[in-house]
Amino acid sequence: QPVYLSDYQPPAYQVTHTELTFDLDPTATRVKARLTVERHASAEQTTPLVLNGEHLTLHALAINGQALAEADYQLTDETLTIPSVPAAFTLESEVEISPSSNTALEGLYQSNGMYCTQCEAEGFRRITYYPDRPDVMATFKVTVIGDAQREPVLLANGNPVDQGTLESGRHFVTWEDPHPKPCYLFALVAGDLTKVEDHFTTMSGRNVTLQLWVEQENLDKTDHAMASLKRAMTWDEETYGREYDLDLFMIVAVNDFNMGAMENKGLNIFNSAAVLTHPNTATDAAFQNVESIVAHEYFHNWSGNRVTCRDWFQLSLKEGFTVFRDQCFSADINSAPVKRIQDVSFFRTAQFAEDAGPTAHPVRPDHYIEITNFYTLTIYEKGAEVVRMLRNLLGWEAFRRGSDLYFERFDGQAVTIEDFVGCMAEVSGIDLSQFMRWYSQAGTPEIDAHGEYDYANAEYHLTLRQRTPATPGQPDKQPLHIPVRMGLVGTKSGQDLTLTLEGEKLGKDAVIHLTDDEQTFIFTDVAEAPVPSLLRDFSAPVKLHFPYSREDLAFLLTHDSDGFNRWDAGQRLALLALDDLIAAHRNGVEKVMDSRVVEAFRTLLTSSMDDKAVLAEMLTLPSEAYIAEQQPIVDVDAIHAAREFVRQSLAQALRDEFIAVYKENGTDEAYAPTPEQIAQRSLKNIALSYLMSIEDDESVALCEAQFAADHNMTDVRHALTLLVHSDRDDLANPALKAFGEKWAHDPLVMDQWFTIQVSRPQPDVLERVKYLMQHPAFSIKNPNKVRALVGAFAQNRVNFHRLDGKGYALLADVVIELNRLNPEIAARLITPLTRWQRFDEARQQLMRAELERIKQEPLSSNVFEVVEKALA
Ligand code: ARG
Ligand code: ZN
Repeated sequence: QPVYLSDYQPPAYQVTHTELTFDLDPTATRVKARLTVERHASAEQTTPLVLNGEHLTLHALAINGQALAEADYQLTDETLTIPSVPAAFTLESEVEISPSSNTALEGLYQSNGMYCTQCEAEGFRRITYYPDRPDVMATFKVTVIGDAQREPVLLANGNPVDQGTLESGRHFVTWEDPHPKPCYLFALVAGDLTKVEDHFTTMSGRNVTLQLWVEQENLDKTDHAMASLKRAMTWDEETYGREYDLDLFMIVAVNDFNMGAMENKGLNIFNSAAVLTHPNTATDAAFQNVESIVAHEYFHNWSGNRVTCRDWFQLSLKEGFTVFRDQCFSADINSAPVKRIQDVSFFRTAQFAEDAGPTAHPVRPDHYIEITNFYTLTIYEKGAEVVRMLRNLLGWEAFRRGSDLYFERFDGQAVTIEDFVGCMAEVSGIDLSQFMRWYSQAGTPEIDAHGEYDYANAEYHLTLRQRTPATPGQPDKQPLHIPVRMGLVGTKSGQDLTLTLEGEKLGKDAVIHLTDDEQTFIFTDVAEAPVPSLLRDFSAPVKLHFPYSREDLAFLLTHDSDGFNRWDAGQRLALLALDDLIAAHRNGVEKVMDSRVVEAFRTLLTSSMDDKAVLAEMLTLPSEAYIAEQQPIVDVDAIHAAREFVRQSLAQALRDEFIAVYKENGTDEAYAPTPEQIAQRSLKNIALSYLMSIEDDESVALCEAQFAADHNMTDVRHALTLLVHSDRDDLANPALKAFGEKWAHDPLVMDQWFTIQVSRPQPDVLERVKYLMQHPAFSIKNPNKVRALVGAFAQNRVNFHRLDGKGYALLADVVIELNRLNPEIAARLITPLTRWQRFDEARQQLMRAELERIKQEPLSSNVFEVVEKALA
């Protein structure tokens, strides 16, 4: 029962104003709705009114005050149809719902006793009968009635306009949101919450009250999110000219949440993991994550809320653009090259894998069964890469004019990706028709490049050939418009050479455009033999193959003017060395470390590089997952063994250098999540990781001392991970126990405690997962816990891919259980099993068998869609 983009029809009926009254009760909440409805001018008089509604018990229904008899409408599990309605009317309904039994966490549900909502994409239909689609936009007036003791705080979108007490200990608050919005942006929160409050004056002088609502015990974890919010508000004014448009902006932290956060108008709801931080409980990475998610949700106020999506196929219209915006924000306020390295490194590991698997889909899919399955890395991160390419094609200034035009022209409307790209084409005069293929074609394009230096004529000939592999449903692919940012680095001078193409001087760093299947670019006046530096700053989301020698890579590692490509040269060099070692491991030959890698690391460690954050990234080896991405058939054990061998060889050869770096980067300063401190800690901790790979007495002593010093969670967690992942139970067990007891009361820290132990390489992990699933701090109903324990286990490559198949079986058991409780999380959890084609025959069989076993169950549409694709 898929939905197709090509079937889109504008709504026959618009709701222009929506009034809701919630009488809260855990098992029997009453929702009264009063909708002002109008038939669209172009719709037939006879068009029935069809409303969405699921898990609702209907108690009353009336049109223009006249109660409807049962014969006047039809109900199914998913719809309410009224065959005959006037051209304009008021529809009143009353339904009953049960928030406490809502384990799917969509619609209105309870988390830790408090009421909250998640309506994107199609959760509102679990609240009341409504045209639940983003192109129906209404103003909302919402009254929330609750128990004055249990729910002293009653929140909804917009501004509070009325409140009062009622009989039998009840009270109410009424909220009004003047901005028309689709129902997926509706939100309600009620509970015993406390707030921190701050203020922001917008560029036009409007005073906005900022509130962050949390449970009492989390009041000391709100500073960073509030500071991040204010930075994001300023940044969006300065960078995009976007100003906030209500007098109040609220963020609420909830423990049970399927995703990171939600941009509901004026009332953002956050997974507590994406908003709460304290130096003692959150790592640097968590601080940075909070900063970017707070910004992301805030930026949605324009890219998503003021201008929204016509339908859910256009999801990347708001998500790709907003991710691009939050990436730029984080780059501006932290280390830009490191932000890019981290984003790309994640992207090339996880999105490339998605693009190569059975669930591959375009940035704008053309059909789906369950939209919640499409909140993917392709829609979000590849969508952001596509917007970034637009920025690079147009240049920032034209891109900004395009963005201004988009917000102005489409303010208050629900629009499409063509509308967005159309603005960019209009302001720049650039033909973006071929570029549009990025939105419709799935799969990661690969570029095979080769180059030749012609000494006699001082020319460099660069040939680029592109191909995009077939993906499910898309056997044939067309050439894309791929911007390749590049330079030619002179091997004598070590400098970028001036690029001259067809007589035109392009400067030392330029973008060339690959639009055909194959093109040769002839650079003239190239005075010395160069090494090409291609795809600088990852200028397009593609795989680029160039036959670099290890000497070339070592050269780029030290000479490339592009920080991103310097890092990438190091990664490529390490990958070549790892390839040899993986082969050696398979063939049972003695492993020998490539001395060029050792020397490259020595240079890095001893040259005083000013950007410590970049240095830490350069010292980080490609992850097992990324190495696996490069292999035709993944050999998990060989990859693990080879990578460990490289770590240990480097640590042995460069022990003194690592100790020096460790000691130089300790600090006694009070913790602050500043770029400088974060860089120092990363560098210190990466050094400690190498040292702990050899587990000599001095390294162990340093690690134990760092754990015991208890300075901040970044250092403590890093030390704990190294102790727990070491081969010595006498180090692992006491540290784990002490940490678990100290933090038993803090769910977010316990999540980390779960993850650390199920990520260790030792073979006891499977039993540990089973044991920990019985731990009092674990709950299968809490998505963070499932991710921290079961999700993390499935990322533990050597243990999840055990040859006895018990890792796969465990995951399938949890998927089957969650399929009933929370289909969205269940469907996401299957992902590692869907990658079966990448493994050896024995593992393929085992993984498929578990998928088949899941398929035998009565499945939610979410899990069904994923399993079906995975087995196709
Ligand atoms: N729009 C939200 C965000 O990206 C995510 C909503 C997720 N919804 C869902 N059903 N998974 O900020
Ligand atoms: Zn988003």
